[in-house]
Amino acid sequence: MVSLLGLVVYLFSYAALITALPTQRAISGYAPVAATCPATQLVRTANGLSDAESNYIHQRYQKASQALESWLKSVDETFEFGQGSWDSHGGWSDWAGQGKAPVLALTSSGGGYRAMLAGAGVIKGFDSREVDKTGVSGIYQALTYHAGLSGGSWLLSSIAGNDFPTIGSLQANLWDTTLQNSLLVPQILLSPQAASVYSAVEADVQAKRSAGFEPSIIDPWGRLLSYALLYGPDGGVVDTVSGIASTSNFTSHNAPYPIITALGSNRLIDGTCIPQPNATQYEFHPYEFGSWDAGVDAFVVTEYLGTSFSNGEAITCVTHYDQLGYVLGTSSNVFGSICSAVPAENSTAVSALTLVEDLAEIVAVGHPGIPESEIFGLYPNPFHNYPSSALVSAQPTLELVDGGVGVAYQGNPIWPFLHREDVDVIIVNDNAADTQYNFPNGTEILHTYQAAIAAGLTRMPVIPSVATFVSEGLNQKPTFFGCNTNDTATIVYIPNFNYTYPSGQPTAKIQYYKNETDGMIANGVEIASYGGKASWPLCLGCGIMKKSGGTLPNGCAACFKEYCFN
Ligand SMILES: *[C@@H]1O[C@H](CO)[C@@H](O)[C@H](O)[C@H]1NC(C)=O
Ligand SMILES: *[C@@H]1O[C@H](CO)[C@@H](O)[C@H](O)[C@H]1NC(C)=O
Ligand SMILES: *[C@@H]1O[C@H](CO)[C@@H](O)[C@H](O)[C@H]1NC(C)=O
Ligand SMILES: *[C@@H]1O[C@H](CO)[C@@H](O)[C@H](O)[C@H]1NC(C)=O
Ligand SMILES: *[C@@H]1O[C@H](CO)[C@@H](O)[C@H](O)[C@H]1NC(C)=O
Ligand SMILES: *[C@@H]1O[C@H](CO)[C@@H](O)[C@H](O)[C@H]1NC(C)=O
Ligand SMILES: *[C@@H]1O[C@H](CO)[C@@H](O)[C@H](O)[C@H]1NC(C)=O
Repeated sequence: MVSLLGLVVYLFSYAALITALPTQRAISGYAPVAATCPATQLVRTANGLSDAESNYIHQRYQKASQALESWLKSVDETFEFGQGSWDSHGGWSDWAGQGKAPVLALTSSGGGYRAMLAGAGVIKGFDSREVDKTGVSGIYQALTYHAGLSGGSWLLSSIAGNDFPTIGSLQANLWDTTLQNSLLVPQILLSPQAASVYSAVEADVQAKRSAGFEPSIIDPWGRLLSYALLYGPDGGVVDTVSGIASTSNFTSHNAPYPIITALGSNRLIDGTCIPQPNATQYEFHPYEFGSWDAGVDAFVVTEYLGTSFSNGEAITCVTHYDQLGYVLGTSSNVFGSICSAVPAENSTAVSALTLVEDLAEIVAVGHPGIPESEIFGLYPNPFHNYPSSALVSAQPTLELVDGGVGVAYQGNPIWPFLHREDVDVIIVNDNAADTQYNFPNGTEILHTYQAAIAAGLTRMPVIPSVATFVSEGLNQKPTFFGCNTNDTATIVYIPNFNYTYPSGQPTAKIQYYKNETDGMIANGVEIASYGGKASWPLCLGCGIMKKSGGTLPNGCAACFKEYCFN
């Protein structure tokens, strides 16, 4: 039912050794802290972008469109390109000639470390800063937005939480080691070598409890993931989502605006724990957290997540609740699909603990088991008693799960861009495990299309059936959707494929040796460059510019024949 079910099963069934661990209490930088409430309004209804995001992307678009122009000209000088200024940008249908610069977004899908590493390789192939260039090096610089979900949020957080380094440097200086010594492997977590990390994480979670906030399994989950993804003491303990806005590459608009997605559980609303096809999609970004969807339709300033609100008015202000590890843990909350309490450990046999029980132990030191509420990413509800958020306004707490789980699971975080009509081209890198070999087959992007239609969102081009994906091989090569519809975005669909490495690794694989990390990323570079196919850079440029109104290179006609599905 869920793409990550395998991981849940794995985490439940993995027997581990227990060693007696010292419990030392350390000062923690993890707990949310009380703050003075600002005079400004912190909650708003979802009528358009915030001024802060709007300002950011105006600036970012300038840089991104210059980068797009130089990349396009390097591919083919005859691309006609009008200089991009936001004011002249008005969506495809308003453009009359001159090759206006489209606004580009990238989505990095869920799928555990497989998705993170395949997605990382795609970015490496797109990034002109890397030493080894491809024909598509420069596309990363042309992005205005980058969204990540679950494993894709691990990737996005490792980039944005570390001030936007290259994948090459993250690989060499962090992931090659941290994914090999993965703290998600119970024997490693419970080994004497990890004892200091274990006690630091335990102290972090208890500090959150002492500060008056109910911790959940997502606290230790996010903390342990963060040791693999974030630099800085105690696994990036001071990093927050709102803090990304003060990093140097963000303030200089060198990087795409990052968005992490998650889903709401309706457990407290109508008893439906597992997300239904119309589940509320939430987004976390440096300036705001909230949802565009009917029933919530509101945003709060991310820095003040954790604050108690009533009817949009702050009661007691809190900051640092938007801890980045907690948010990426929420986006990858596979435990949410368990939909039950985690029981106390039955036996006194010390070999019986699984990772999920280890996590529960960390949450509930000295107490037996955790209640069902603590399998969720818990957020004091910013929309409590907020009239326009009718679906959730009665709940004191929002309970969030992995963005890619549920009945009609959507592994690609496309949703934020269906609400941002300025986004013209969405590059969808799908690393889902739909097939038995852990490759995508179109199921998840189709689910997003179906949900978009049901919600009355019109930016998504028509997505064909899974049968068509498979019979036409659309799930094994790049495909463009929406080439011929000026009133929708264009989707450049780039699925995981095993060019040079068996990249269909199981979602439940929670440890990658250095050679495996490197092999996955190198294969991802091939995914971005379509295996080095000579005509691909031109064709990608043609697809991106197709609806921009400018004169296109002669070669584009053949490209549209080859890549445009509709
Ligand atoms: C971020 O800043 C560093 C240092 O100035 C630079 O090397 C790096 O390339 C920047 N990242 C981006 C995305 O420009
Ligand atoms: C979601 O769909 C269910 C039926 O599957 C329906 O009962 C519910 O009202 C819908 N919720 C919203 C917010 O549209
Ligand atoms: C604990 O006991 C219950 C009831 O006997 C059983 O269903 C469950 O699987 C046991 N859990 C573990 C971790 O052994
Ligand atoms: C596509 O993937 C879905 C989800 O795993 C699966 O149920 C379906 O059978 C697959 N269909 C094809 C044609 O591969
Ligand atoms: C990719 O998978 C196919 C089977 O689907 C296999 O024949 C081929 O050898 C694999 N290639 C690599 C590089 O793993
Ligand atoms: C990676 O290295 C390990 C040993 O460190 C070895 O067992 C494994 O076969 C290697 N995998 C690949 C794909 O080369
Ligand atoms: C889409 O817009 C382009 C550029 O303005 C225009 O040339 C083309 O005719 C339009 N296509 C449709 C179907 O409206």
